[in-house]
Amino acid sequence: MTSEVITSEPRLVRSVQETQSEMTELILPNDTNVLGNLLGGRLMHFIDLVGAMAAYRHSRSNVVTASMDHIDFISPVHVGDLLILKSSTNRAFRTSMEVGVKVWVENAVKGTVRHVASAYLTFVALDRVGRRIVVPELKPATSEEMRRFQDAGRRREIREQEQKRRRSNQSE
Ligand SMILES: CC(C)(COP(=O)(O)OP(=O)(O)OC[C@H]1O[C@@H](n2cnc3c(N)ncnc32)[C@H](O)[C@@H]1OP(=O)(O)O)[C@@H](O)C(=O)NCCC(=O)NCCS
Repeated sequence: MTSEVITSEPRLVRSVQETQSEMTELILPNDTNVLGNLLGGRLMHFIDLVGAMAAYRHSRSNVVTASMDHIDFISPVHVGDLLILKSSTNRAFRTSMEVGVKVWVENAVKGTVRHVASAYLTFVALDRVGRRIVVPELKPATSEEMRRFQDAGRRREIREQEQKRRRSNQSE
């Protein structure tokens, strides 16, 4: 169990925009399997990195990945493609934040862009000695941001129920 820093200071408030992050990667042979398709694990690594950027911008502290909820690999990415990853914080809880990541691929020759993956990750903010710290609140401004905020709350409930179920199975 990680300890938490107790503070009486009022929580800062951040906008979704302040957390938005973007990363572009050129897919090289080392990133791919024998068919020249991007490896799933490599894609998850990029998703983790761009997700951490949004959590870092939200908390302005060290962050660790607590979970990656769900990831759909919609279509393959090939060597030579440009991978575009965008992330933003969907909701801040107490010491954790849910971040959404969406990934597109740009065919550099044709200039076409297609959606290839989406994922939700939870990051926990830690201080320099590894204690959990309370993160700023997130204030959704648009109807889309509000929808993501509410969906993140529902996903947290599902995660918690699933965690309880797993723990009770393990103790049997
Ligand atoms: C993530 C971690 C800091 C949580 O610490 P803990 O003491 O088990 O946490 P608690 O159960 O007290 O929960 C603390 C917060 O983390 C959240 N959390 C814990 N486990 C979680 C999970 N699996 N998924 C989502 N959120 C989680 C809790 O909801 C809580 O959030 P809140 O403060 O916003 O309400 C700890 O498990 C850890 O250090 N894990 C390893 C992280 C890591 O190395 N990541 C890289 C993996 S390769």
